[in-house]
Amino acid sequence: MLLQAQGIAKNYGGVRALKGVSFDLRAGEVHALVGENGAGKSTLIKVLTGAVEPDLGSIFLGGERVVGNSPHHSRALGIAAVYQQPAIFPDLTVAENIALVNETGGLARRVKWADRVRTARELLATIGAEIDPEREAGTLSMPEQQLVEIAKALGANVRVLILDEPTASLTELETERLFGIVARLRTQGAGIIYISHRLEELGRIADRITVLRDGESIATRPASETTPQQLISLMAGRDLAAVFPKRVVPIGDVVLSVEGVGGVSFEVRAGEILGVAGLVGAGRTELAETLFGITPADSGTIRVNASDVVVRSPEDAIRAGIAYVPEDRRRHGIVGELPVRANTTLAILDRISSNTLLDQEAERALATDWVTRLGVKTDGIDAPANSLSGGNQQKVAISRWLATEPKVLILDEPTQGIDVGAKAECHRIMCDLAEKGLAIVMISSELSEILGMSDRIAVMRGGAIVGTVPRAEATGEGLLALALGHSA
Ligand SMILES: Nc1ncnc2c1ncn2[C@@H]1O[C@H](COP(=O)(O)OP(=O)(O)OP(=O)(O)O)[C@@H](O)[C@H]1O
Ligand SMILES: [Mg+2]
Repeated sequence: MLLQAQGIAKNYGGVRALKGVSFDLRAGEVHALVGENGAGKSTLIKVLTGAVEPDLGSIFLGGERVVGNSPHHSRALGIAAVYQQPAIFPDLTVAENIALVNETGGLARRVKWADRVRTARELLATIGAEIDPEREAGTLSMPEQQLVEIAKALGANVRVLILDEPTASLTELETERLFGIVARLRTQGAGIIYISHRLEELGRIADRITVLRDGESIATRPASETTPQQLISLMAGRDLAAVFPKRVVPIGDVVLSVEGVGGVSFEVRAGEILGVAGLVGAGRTELAETLFGITPADSGTIRVNASDVVVRSPEDAIRAGIAYVPEDRRRHGIVGELPVRANTTLAILDRISSNTLLDQEAERALATDWVTRLGVKTDGIDAPANSLSGGNQQKVAISRWLATEPKVLILDEPTQGIDVGAKAECHRIMCDLAEKGLAIVMISSELSEILGMSDRIAVMRGGAIVGTVPRAEATGEGLLALALGHSA
């Protein structure tokens, strides 16, 4: 046995995140770890890497007990982790970020810049990431940050590679490349712990799957004998229905019309969900940021309900009825120090205040409603948002924008990192909003979500829309061919 965790328990104040979990990993094995948001997956990972100290339990690597664990110590032992939330230093270059974890030696060591850049370039090339090592890390998009994190983890001689939702913001192509690397590492005898909410992936990549629920290990099964549906039942402790409850609603007049904005033109009608597909770097998030006024365009026209609107800032966009749920919700999505209730109502303060006085009752009622609808696992609506698990923070960020009731709703990776139950609820809410006449633009890297939820699909490549496909004609291969620039 390569790695063993025995009887791991961890409490955060009154929250029992892990209640005596045991877990093991063989050399050459991919062991998947699944569970609903807040089940304890990331906490277990952090215990293994020494980022979090357990209250009880022990860890063995190659049969030897690991004492005095810390991130530095575990790294030296060959345990590398890609955490759910990228830990990039924005002011350093990509190469410096990669070097930081991989170079050993004191501060006075002589830095060979050229070597450093070359190493970074090689590591990025192994995962097929076209990212300039000399770029400032603060300019990277979410998926690019994720790719840099993966390159970082591959730097040292890895015995145990831990991936906490590595594909959350990656598209099919990047995911394929990652699977290639995982396959190579396992033939070299490394063990891989793989966390994902994309249950369909697991059959392809995992040998065994362990399900966590409420801080307990519920089952460990061979991946080949376990269906996604069985996993969902084990995760939730009950049977859950379909994942994509797409309802076809009447399509009305054009609500959003975009003409030559950053070279892009399209329309979205009332009740319509326009899916936006494309590879990492295709310009999808940039388009959303332009429409929302974060990076206003120099040319082109935006019309909402047939009136020209000038969008020079997010305030302009909100006034024009455009709301945007950004992809990088840790940076733009939630305010970690504020309680869950304030995060839910941040965008609609005017609706629950009179004479600038906040109606606390209304805020509590609204927040409680959203927490229940999306099943946000929290100590209560007064808990600070950053005490929530990754997926539960996502739910709070989404609820805040769903609560605004805009005319145009732009969603960037709306269900990234949230569990199947909440995902279905999000999709149901999107359909409800469409039915009310909203025009929805949904950027997603998950092909099944694009195919399952869109009325039409716009495919982007190199900053332009290279094709628009109606729901009935869309196939995974067709979209991928467009995204890659191959003729279908
Ligand atoms: N720093 C913290 N302070 C307080 N509570 C915490 C903290 N970190 C995690 N928790 C709580 O511990 C529980 C387990 O969280 P964990 O992050 O391990 O979940 P997870 O399975 O990784 O979920 P997700 O799929 O959402 O990432 C949750 O109830 C969470 O709110
Ligand atoms: Mg997590």
